Amino acid sequence: MSSLSRGGFASRIGFILAAAGSAVGLGNIWKFPYEAGKNGGAAFLVVYVLLTFLFCYPIMVGEIAIGRRAGKDVYGSYKLLGGKKWGPLGLLGILCGIMILSFYNVVAGWAFGYFLEISFGNLLSEPNYAEFFGTYVNNFWDNMFFSVGFMAITAFIVAKGVKQGIEAAAKIMMPALLLILLLLIGYSMTLPNAMAGISFYLLPDFSKITLDTLYPAMGHAFFSLSLGMGALITYGSYVGKNQNIMTAAFTITIMDMSVAFLAGLMIFPLIFSQGVAPDSGPALVFVVLPAIFSAFGPILGKIVGGSFFLLLCFAALTSTISLLEVPVAYYVDERNLPRKRVTWLVAAVIFIAGLPSMLSQGVVPAFNKLSFYHDKTALDFVAEVFSEVCLPLGGCLMCLFIVLQWGQQNMSKEIYEGNPDYEGSFLEKYINFTIRYVCPILLGLFSVLIVLDKLFQVKLF
Ligand code: TRP
Repeated sequence: MSSLSRGGFASRIGFILAAAGSAVGLGNIWKFPYEAGKNGGAAFLVVYVLLTFLFCYPIMVGEIAIGRRAGKDVYGSYKLLGGKKWGPLGLLGILCGIMILSFYNVVAGWAFGYFLEISFGNLLSEPNYAEFFGTYVNNFWDNMFFSVGFMAITAFIVAKGVKQGIEAAAKIMMPALLLILLLLIGYSMTLPNAMAGISFYLLPDFSKITLDTLYPAMGHAFFSLSLGMGALITYGSYVGKNQNIMTAAFTITIMDMSVAFLAGLMIFPLIFSQGVAPDSGPALVFVVLPAIFSAFGPILGKIVGGSFFLLLCFAALTSTISLLEVPVAYYVDERNLPRKRVTWLVAAVIFIAGLPSMLSQGVVPAFNKLSFYHDKTALDFVAEVFSEVCLPLGGCLMCLFIVLQWGQQNMSKEIYEGNPDYEGSFLEKYINFTIRYVCPILLGLFSVLIVLDKLFQVKLF
């Protein structure tokens, strides 16, 4: 297939927004604030920023460089630059993309449902939100409707192609997301007790920084930046040679961190204004926040709550797009199939693969307690195996690929294009050193710890 018909990003900012859109997702707005709430507020933030720059940034640069050099989907890229034996690493990435999207879309469907129910329904008059959420995730037809809806919107955009679909959507949704976020922060700052929330969030309690903080921060940073499965190899393959990979990756990282940081700035004052404990875990977004919105009264509640869930939907959508693009690019590049048809087909298959996760909240008891996986839900199983275990492993293997097969000098050469100053710079030495030693060793160690913890329930830390 000629590079012309594969498509590509039309502008530098288009790529940056699309990749930042991939990074900014449920992870930033749903998970980051509750991880921070549990792990010492700003202390978690400091660790998170350090880990992100020390490790994740070099991995992101590596992924984009591989993709741009090869100009192919993740499987094709590994195969082209490393030979057939590296193909399976690409296939692992595609499998991760499929499985992560299968459960991610279920949660995105909840957000979509909440958005519609708050904006146009009467969700704000519920007496008990924990109960409501429990019933809600077990309502088969509601779930079906919202998950199919969310997947269809994702497929509709991906089917339109890189420039007219992915790039165009990111150019609208990312600025809109930022605007809604800033407006909500502005509003939540005016609430009574807002400052108590801010100081909980921003005054670091360094006594809370232990290996226990490091561990979730590391896994989260990786997931949040969409690393380890070749999403950025795929997006990188649509990037022009005049783009500066180093500054693009830096901007994407900063954007992702800023949205996570800002999400905390929006959520903690909201929580403290109603005197709720800041460490309520995953229930934060779907149970605690709706109760807070309902306390604002019917009109303000609709506006603030509706905006919040719209924000969550935008964030999730730019991420589901990037997850779907990974397998779609494989079929387009490797099998020469027409993008439109393949997109809808792959989306349908992924939707079906997500049914166990969707039905795992109680509808089907067998999916609610997997006997082979410590009685956890199917959703937990897929999320833990394919994102928490496989992504750091994928990142580790990518480093080995660069060092042992492709060659670090080839990676450097790819980065020189669009950035001649990189040659001989301190940054080049730093990136080469981390990709050679720091990342593979730490990610390898981390993968072992995660496997022990998740699969065998052995916690060394
Ligand atoms: N980064 C997204 C989030 O924070 C999720 C995501 C999208 C992702 N694409 C990915 C995670 C690829 C890993 C790999 O919600």
